[in-house]
Amino acid sequence: MVDPVLLGYVKDGVYILATILFIYALHEMSNPATARKGILWAGAGMLLAILISGILPGISWQAFLTVNPGISTGQLEVNLSLMAVAVLLGGGLAYLWAIRVKMTDMPQMVAIYNGMGGGAAAGIAGLALIARTDTVGYLSLAVVGGLIGAVSFAGSLIAFLKLQGWMRQKPITFPGQQFVNVIVLLAAIVFGAVTLLNDSGHVGAIGTTVALPYFGINTALLLFFVLGLAYGFMMAVPIGGADMPVVISLFNAFTGIAVGLDGFATSNYAMIVAGMLVGSAGSLLTLLMAKAMNRSISNVLFSAFGSKEETGTEIKGSMKPMEVADAAALLAYAGKVIVAPGYGMAVAQAQHKVKEMMDVLEKKDVQVKFAIHPVAGRMPGHMNVLLAEAGVPYDHLFDRDEINQEFASADVVMVIGANDVVNPAARRQGSPLFGMPILDVDAAKHVLVLKRGQGKGFAGIENDLFYKDNTRMVYGDAQETVAKLVQELKKL
Ligand code: TAP
Repeated sequence: MVDPVLLGYVKDGVYILATILFIYALHEMSNPATARKGILWAGAGMLLAILISGILPGISWQAFLTVNPGISTGQLEVNLSLMAVAVLLGGGLAYLWAIRVKMTDMPQMVAIYNGMGGGAAAGIAGLALIARTDTVGYLSLAVVGGLIGAVSFAGSLIAFLKLQGWMRQKPITFPGQQFVNVIVLLAAIVFGAVTLLNDSGHVGAIGTTVALPYFGINTALLLFFVLGLAYGFMMAVPIGGADMPVVISLFNAFTGIAVGLDGFATSNYAMIVAGMLVGSAGSLLTLLMAKAMNRSISNVLFSAFGSKEETGTEIKGSMKPMEVADAAALLAYAGKVIVAPGYGMAVAQAQHKVKEMMDVLEKKDVQVKFAIHPVAGRMPGHMNVLLAEAGVPYDHLFDRDEINQEFASADVVMVIGANDVVNPAARRQGSPLFGMPILDVDAAKHVLVLKRGQGKGFAGIENDLFYKDNTRMVYGDAQETVAKLVQELKKL
């Protein structure tokens, strides 16, 4: 018989190793060149943590069995094999979906995976509350974790449905909505407190054993979760589909916090660390995205952004179209070209053609750089991922802060399917975009804008750039236009 104390040390040692892997993985993910490796390291850490938790279930299970004398060790083994089946089934389905998903569908995939994490956190909190294996102080953390997990689960599900186009994308609002939301949240908190302090009902009193079998359902606990789910649902429906990436990141942070709190309630160190890492990374990402859009989190959550269009702006001038052949000539004789990609490049899947164009231009001794706005596209790093997939070297990609000064020295800026992130209206007071840091592409000698027609950007407002004297519009699907440009360039 192996010494249980020794096994405890082994388990803690593996958890520390998993923690180191998580932190190292985050470090690797901070650079596009090493990000893929980072994902693998994080996956390895998670696998280790799951395996060791399954092999050496540990103190929390023992405590669970002590307060639940009705449960036999055999039943626990069945539970463990059911867990193994769940891990294999869930992991297998996730793998199959992940290898098939299109780049443009990534935000909804992240939403649904994150939602599952929130749901799992809520489930663990529910079990901790039913089993009552800890003191009331720790169990109160399970109440908070359960509520946050349930909110994250329901909210992420709505985000998924909206982004997948299975639910109305526009914000769904009604008078008094925020008041109703607050009431639902308060009611959930009340039932959470009742669950915690309940000493009649089905759940055992604090410090006493559980009278009911393992699957007993307490009404207060049930209402607590139903209201938590309702709040998550109500929180997400007034948010427009295009704002969802910011909200998904926020829910992601929620899931991390819920998992961390569950870790305290069930004495699982790996959950504490992994949860807090996800919670802090998710919170930082949410803040960075909001900052890059010059919007507060409350504006994202409560303003129903995108439901109203801008009115009363008068822009002087007209849009001036240009043929592909003329655009190619402009590019071929330029010394320096900066490409500013946006959401339209992702929709058109034009990145491979863009890389081909870069190669042709470089052969002609034209310097080509890429200007990456932090919220271009619909998810963080969207443009970096697409361009990396197409083989554009990382040293050709420049952040907004690095490249903004360089537009003035560029002969041509090629805006490919970007709109809001290059809209000089952001400099105009009163514009919904006012204050959003943009790429100053209008400073270049010539600006070519590749888009299909007169479509507006995500913010739904006119773009002053399209009317400027140095701007020419090259209409058409971005992939087709760039393919034609490559053909024309090769002729020159
Ligand atoms: P947008 O402002 O969304 O504009 C995209 C443009 O692409 C449209 O004007 C559209 O015009 C054009 N387009 C669409 N399909 C195309 C195709 N097949 N070929 C060529 N052009 C096409 O894009 P952006 O400049 O990247 O800005 C992103 C916006 O999303 C910002 O407002 C940002 O705040 C918001 N947002 C971003 C994130 C993240 S994390 N990236 C998260 C939430 C919100 P046509 O219809 O005329 O072609």
